[in-house]
Amino acid sequence: MAITAIKGMSDIYSPEVEVWQQIEEKARQLFARFGFRELRTPILEKTELFARSIGEDTDIVQKEMYTFPDRKGNMLTLRPEATASIVRAIIQHRLYNVPTMGKFFAIGPMFRYERPQKGRYRQFHQVDAEVVGSKEPVVDAEVMYWAMLFLEEIGIRDSELHINSLGCPECRSPFRERLVKYLREYEESFCKDCGRRIYTNPLRVFDCKVEKCKEIVKGAPKVLDSLCGECKKHFEKVLFFLDKTRCTYKLNHHLVRGLDYYNRTAFEIIASGLGAQNAVGGGGRYDGLFKELGGPDIPAVGFALGIERLLIVLKESSPQLKIGVPDLYMIALGEKAQEVCFSIAQGLRKKEIYVEMGYELKSLKSQMRRADKFGAVHVLIIGENELEKGIAILRNMVTKKQSEIALDEVENILVERIKKESE
Ligand code: HAM
Repeated sequence: MAITAIKGMSDIYSPEVEVWQQIEEKARQLFARFGFRELRTPILEKTELFARSIGEDTDIVQKEMYTFPDRKGNMLTLRPEATASIVRAIIQHRLYNVPTMGKFFAIGPMFRYERPQKGRYRQFHQVDAEVVGSKEPVVDAEVMYWAMLFLEEIGIRDSELHINSLGCPECRSPFRERLVKYLREYEESFCKDCGRRIYTNPLRVFDCKVEKCKEIVKGAPKVLDSLCGECKKHFEKVLFFLDKTRCTYKLNHHLVRGLDYYNRTAFEIIASGLGAQNAVGGGGRYDGLFKELGGPDIPAVGFALGIERLLIVLKESSPQLKIGVPDLYMIALGEKAQEVCFSIAQGLRKKEIYVEMGYELKSLKSQMRRADKFGAVHVLIIGENELEKGIAILRNMVTKKQSEIALDEVENILVERIKKESE
């Protein structure tokens, strides 16, 4: 039997891979405009890094990590997200001491052992951004603005930004008490996990996808009503700057995120067409994580977008995916002509022209059909007759007009013509 890929892990190939490239390229361009620098971390990390940062009681750590011992019995985990690794790397290399470095981005695969369904995979990819070293609310607004601008620039316009504040450890403690008091009244009605969460990590109950739990939390107290003065001021300022970016947003009192390291600002970006997995991205502030992971006390805020989910939304809004169309398609009729075509093709490619060639020595008709499938407008045809005359035939597949070009002029004429057309 043929070997297939692992369930929930996909091969990415053309024409979809070209859309991936466009998304990644756009992200890099936009990161550059905001001063983000790339930080590449290993895909495999020590398990304790994720257990300590994401939180023991989260779904990710409890049941979704790809964890296994190496040959010496050390427990390793395929990264389920990028933030913990980035923070580890910044602490390890003391990047917080480099004055020009404070904004980091990463693009790459993440792994979570989830039940695969639309928008939810076991290997998926994130565009991740982290801003390190500032407590200022203007930074929270700026990262949200980056995400919304990015979505707009890749063509996703009807997404919604949902935002909440989770407060700080000081204001969360009285809130927790109020929340537990409320939740205990419904203790018998919760799912098994939430029944336990009431006592271990009550805020996680807001994140439960079970219908009866979702119903109960509708009436629960709101974190925003329990914020301390400083957190309230911070949140108001975040909204003030967000208003300046003209991003629209919704306050979502039940937004808590699936990872435990957040404090104050938490946000998610919801898009239509995704079904149950409706968040294309999420993030927030995590001022305590550096210290938690053994580093200095440094505030930070960031987010990640899921590339597969961006693709689903893009596909539903514009089903036509653009793939690269060759600038020139070359047809050789006969072995001698193939040798000449081969040299011309290499010369043109060196001059940054995208050239496709019919490698099989098939009939003119069948090669023309293949050129058409590529969507090529210009086709260069060389056969025995043309070789004898020292010319090539250039055919425009749209206008059907043909012209003759001297073989020794082909490279220069085509480079000039194609570059002029693409201006
Ligand atoms: P997250 O909300 O767990 O946050 O993931 C961010 C995004 O990754 C989601 O909104 C979704 O688009 C995508 N994603 C997550 N799981 C899957 C999956 N199984 N299949 C497909 N896509 C998925 C984080 O990972 C945080 N590290 C974000 C962050 C950065 N917070 C601060 N800095």
